[in-house]
Amino acid sequence: MSLAELLSLRDRIAIVTGASRGLGKAFATALAEAGAHLAIVSRHLDELQDTAAAVKNCKRDVLTLQADITREDQVREMVRQTVGRFGGIDILVNNAATERQNLPPEQTTLENWSFVIDTNVNGAFLCAREVGKVMISQKRGKIINMASISGMIINKYFHGGSYDVSKSAVVALTKALAVEWAKYNVNVIALAPGYYGTTPNKKWFEANPEIYKQVIDMIPLKRLGTIEELAALVTVLASEVSNYITGSTVVIDGGYTLW
Ligand SMILES: NC(=O)c1ccc[n+]([C@@H]2O[C@H](COP(=O)([O-])OP(=O)(O)OC[C@H]3O[C@@H](n4cnc5c(N)ncnc54)[C@H](OP(=O)(O)O)[C@@H]3O)[C@@H](O)[C@H]2O)c1
Repeated sequence: MSLAELLSLRDRIAIVTGASRGLGKAFATALAEAGAHLAIVSRHLDELQDTAAAVKNCKRDVLTLQADITREDQVREMVRQTVGRFGGIDILVNNAATERQNLPPEQTTLENWSFVIDTNVNGAFLCAREVGKVMISQKRGKIINMASISGMIINKYFHGGSYDVSKSAVVALTKALAVEWAKYNVNVIALAPGYYGTTPNKKWFEANPEIYKQVIDMIPLKRLGTIEELAALVTVLASEVSNYITGSTVVIDGGYTLW
């Protein structure tokens, strides 16, 4: 197979959860640029329209789906509709997640804690499980779980631990599913991004210039990551290039976690 063939996602079917904004929107667009057809998911159908337009711009098919990943019935329906429309699923980018609550642990209510764990861990599990059933029957598939450097280290600027615990669990979930599903030729890979120039991050850094300076000081490559770099990596991991990668967490943080 040529390098171009290895990298191509021509006519693959991909689901991207949390595709209405931020990284998920960029992932869906990049997968479409690489040739995939897309099912894009969030809780608000109207907010998926920009991403749908970007996919259509690449002359790829797009299905917009309203689903809350914490709701088992809605995740099942997401998979049912995707298979109904496209006939199978080759790629899941398990991207939807909720923000950190940023409260000290002693002030974190069970409700706050459970909300983060329910979305970031249980939601990711439900999506992987339901898509995994389809991939097992196909004997083929790639699942890319969005973890974070907060799954490898404790993020010093955010309190409470729920987000760090949730992303550590995504790393562990990736290993567990990789072991279980290797026999079905399903690869499960996690991404652990560091600090990226997403809109909320940029606003946060603008409001806290001293934190921005400290963060950049801690990054050996001395800059934030770009969304384009991360989206390109997702397309590579979704391609045949990653056939011998499973259970790994790929850290892309400019070296932040090296210290
Ligand atoms: N941004 C970074 O620098 C960074 C760094 C490391 C890791 N990450 C990880 O990368 C992923 C994307 O981050 P982001 O910054 O792009 O996030 P974001 O801007 O907050 O977007 C989150 C997306 O998930 C959707 N979503 C949230 N809860 C959902 C639910 N229960 N069911 C379905 N969809 C839901 C949101 O849409 P609705 O609200 O419409 O549902 C939205 O599309 C996350 O897993 C995050 O933890 C991000």
